[in-house]
Amino acid sequence: MHELTDETEQLARTIFEQVLERQRMNPMSLGGIGSSATLECDLSGSITAAGLGFDEAMRRWSDTVIPNVIAIDHPRYLAFIPHAPTQASVFIDLFVSAASIYAGSWMEASGAVVAENQALAWLAGLAGYPKEAGGSFVPGGTLGNLAALHTARETARDRRRADRPARWQVAVSSESHSSINQALRVLDMDPIPVPVDDRFRLTASALEKVLAERKPDGLCAVVASAGSTNAGAIDDLAGIADLCAELGVWLHVDGAYGLAALASETKRAAFAGIERSDSFIVDPHKWLFGPYDSCALLYRDPALAKRAHSQSADYLDVINERNDWNPADYAIQLSRRARGLPMWFSLTAHGTDAYGAAIDQTLTLTSQTVVEIRQRPELELVLEPDLSVLLFRRIGWNDADYLTWSDELIASGTAFVVPSRVDGKSVARMVLMNPRTTMDDVRLVLDSMG
Ligand SMILES: Cc1ncc(COP(=O)(O)O)c(C=O)c1O
Repeated sequence: MHELTDETEQLARTIFEQVLERQRMNPMSLGGIGSSATLECDLSGSITAAGLGFDEAMRRWSDTVIPNVIAIDHPRYLAFIPHAPTQASVFIDLFVSAASIYAGSWMEASGAVVAENQALAWLAGLAGYPKEAGGSFVPGGTLGNLAALHTARETARDRRRADRPARWQVAVSSESHSSINQALRVLDMDPIPVPVDDRFRLTASALEKVLAERKPDGLCAVVASAGSTNAGAIDDLAGIADLCAELGVWLHVDGAYGLAALASETKRAAFAGIERSDSFIVDPHKWLFGPYDSCALLYRDPALAKRAHSQSADYLDVINERNDWNPADYAIQLSRRARGLPMWFSLTAHGTDAYGAAIDQTLTLTSQTVVEIRQRPELELVLEPDLSVLLFRRIGWNDADYLTWSDELIASGTAFVVPSRVDGKSVARMVLMNPRTTMDDVRLVLDSMG
């Protein structure tokens, strides 16, 4: 299995050709959602003692596995959070896999660590963090949020050695991503929910009011969103940063989706206050055009994260005693894929201006779509977008109508769009962050609601 034979070289050529062919297609097939009975049947007998050989494995791959996944980089995949990796990042990612890069430690991957840190430093610089800021790429926003909140609590624990509270609390907005509540469950901390304003934003005044009422004695962090998932809303980061400084609590900003727009000169000011946060995340696999999976986790003071996360064991002393920068020290991880390298490579090749321009292009498309929705009497915008998430209603539709519309678009291979909810009622939701999506794509989807 480990020798490169004529047969494995032929397999490699087949795979490379198929990868290239897929990238050439614009658009590629949207893919589909299979039935478990059919898929189980088509893939039955895959795992055998003797193996089925490359031809049969490839046949099962091409005929069953790939047609039954949704191409979320399709220009009309507008649901949840779409995906739009650059060609350079996709292809170099093949190399990252093939090169078996173990990027947990400097000792084993110094070149990869410096490259990843350059990509992190670019993001830290956009956010206005000091030079000493740093962190690590982790698999996704969920794990980035978990690691940051663990660091926040460990830091509070260290500071309050003498008067530790019975329970630790974290203030979160009612629009925080579900991963925040999950992180709090994992960490056994209590959320203090704060209602959002009519634009779905967490404001300093609402936060202050809730804290004045609740008087939590174990508040160790506040989580703000820089682009909430459902509405794309940017919280009042500056006001919240003031309050956190006054209270002496950690400010974590979840910018998994939205903070990518720091790369846009026209949008950067909307994140004022981010420079005073203690940690933030932004996912290259979302609006920073990297392949799965990748979240950039940054700390203003990475020494605090290292104290919270560094693992020690006899066999790791050889790494820890060198005092190098080891990415494994900054999150819940040890072995790690160099998942920041595709972003570094693509950034290095294309330059940061290209990233700003690509994000601006999707923001322009969003503005044009707002105009288009307003021109259609059957549609009603729920709110003016802060970023590139659009929530809108089809007047006269009920929950079932939205689901039927979505199912039909998916089944016909036209588009992948799913409804969401606002105040308990179904609404249409589209996220425009793929630079390959055009106004014609958007119109096709809007026409299907006519
Ligand atoms: C704002 C926000 N935070 C966190 C997450 C979780 O990120 P991931 O899916 O990479 O774990 C998401 C995912 O959509 C998100 O939009």
